[in-house]
Amino acid sequence: MDNNLVSLYDYEAAAKLTLPHDHWDFIDAGAMDENTARRNRSALDGLALRPRFLRDVEKLDISTTVLGSPISMPVMIAPAGGHMLAHADGELATVRGAAKSRTLMMAATNSNYTMEEIAEATTTPRWFQLYHRGREVTETLVRRAEKSGYTAICLTVDTPVPSYKERDVRNRFVRPFRLANFTGMEAAAGDEETPSWLNPGVPGLTWADLDWLRSLSALPLVLKGIRTPEDARLAVDHGVEGILVSNHGGRQIDMTLSSIETLPEIVEAVDGRAEIYLDSGIRRGSDVLRALVMGATAVAIGRPLFWGLAVDGANGVHQVLEILRRELEIALAYCGVTSVHNLGPGLISVPHGWGSGTVR
Ligand SMILES: Cc1cc2nc3c(=O)[nH]c(=O)nc-3n(C[C@H](O)[C@H](O)[C@H](O)COP(=O)(O)O)c2cc1C
Repeated sequence: MDNNLVSLYDYEAAAKLTLPHDHWDFIDAGAMDENTARRNRSALDGLALRPRFLRDVEKLDISTTVLGSPISMPVMIAPAGGHMLAHADGELATVRGAAKSRTLMMAATNSNYTMEEIAEATTTPRWFQLYHRGREVTETLVRRAEKSGYTAICLTVDTPVPSYKERDVRNRFVRPFRLANFTGMEAAAGDEETPSWLNPGVPGLTWADLDWLRSLSALPLVLKGIRTPEDARLAVDHGVEGILVSNHGGRQIDMTLSSIETLPEIVEAVDGRAEIYLDSGIRRGSDVLRALVMGATAVAIGRPLFWGLAVDGANGVHQVLEILRRELEIALAYCGVTSVHNLGPGLISVPHGWGSGTVR
């Protein structure tokens, strides 16, 4: 461990010094006032741990499985487009870092290396994150994912229109690198010269299309970006195997609840019919513990993977994951628990008024 890079926040500060200003902003920014991005943190910070002592915590087990794939800890790599913004080896470095930490990476549709190149770089478990780009392109992407060994399709649903990140608008940010999966079908990727906030969202995709998507492949389906129990219920009624509770790190619509605030009611609505994961704002092992206590099977990190990449490529991603591993183990031990499969009630204190409240 580098003594100057002790926490994820140290990686964040170092990455900010390294990256070009507009790349940094693209990675860091939330939508509009960036309120949701901040709330992802403040809501987690509002949940206090309740340490328990005089228990034998010598042997800790944080390994788990996600849709049957074993991972060494309940922390995964969230799908994010454009890893070359932070390192020339892009997604190849990220997947190698994830493999070194024996965890799963969700490879994004908007990657700078193709899904086949990412698959060839390692054998660590991989899901393919899908942005629907019309039936023909989506079918091609799903078939390629199946062929190259991805074990689930993670459909991102929370982008009906492009996100409006004002920092990108001010910077006139244009994606500097190719979207490799679209080589030969550039029209589907959106015009490279078009500023990112004008590129296509995923309009035209509805619940009715999910059955069609399922008919393309036997791979399990995870919906990413579900924010309400109403949509979570619809998702399980449509037979999805997983739900990634996420607000895209606050990068899409602003002024929503944090992911962690929506987690308990989604867990209740799903009632064990699908696995539940969470991302948005995870920066500490204690955040991982809080999400697991509230019902997630595992969490994922987005921005921190870019911080690791910017600082030290594959090794930086590995180090970021190892910091979270160490911190999760510390948090578990202080709470007197030896296994992530044994998280009973009473481990966190939820203040009055915290959470989703009444819906009008
Ligand atoms: C630079 C960047 C690009 C992203 N691109 C995608 C994407 O292409 N598809 C997607 O589903 N989510 C994307 N995300 C969102 C992440 O999957 C994840 O939901 C989010 O980053 C989690 O919040 P965190 O950054 O606070 O960890 C992106 C995130 C970042 C930071």
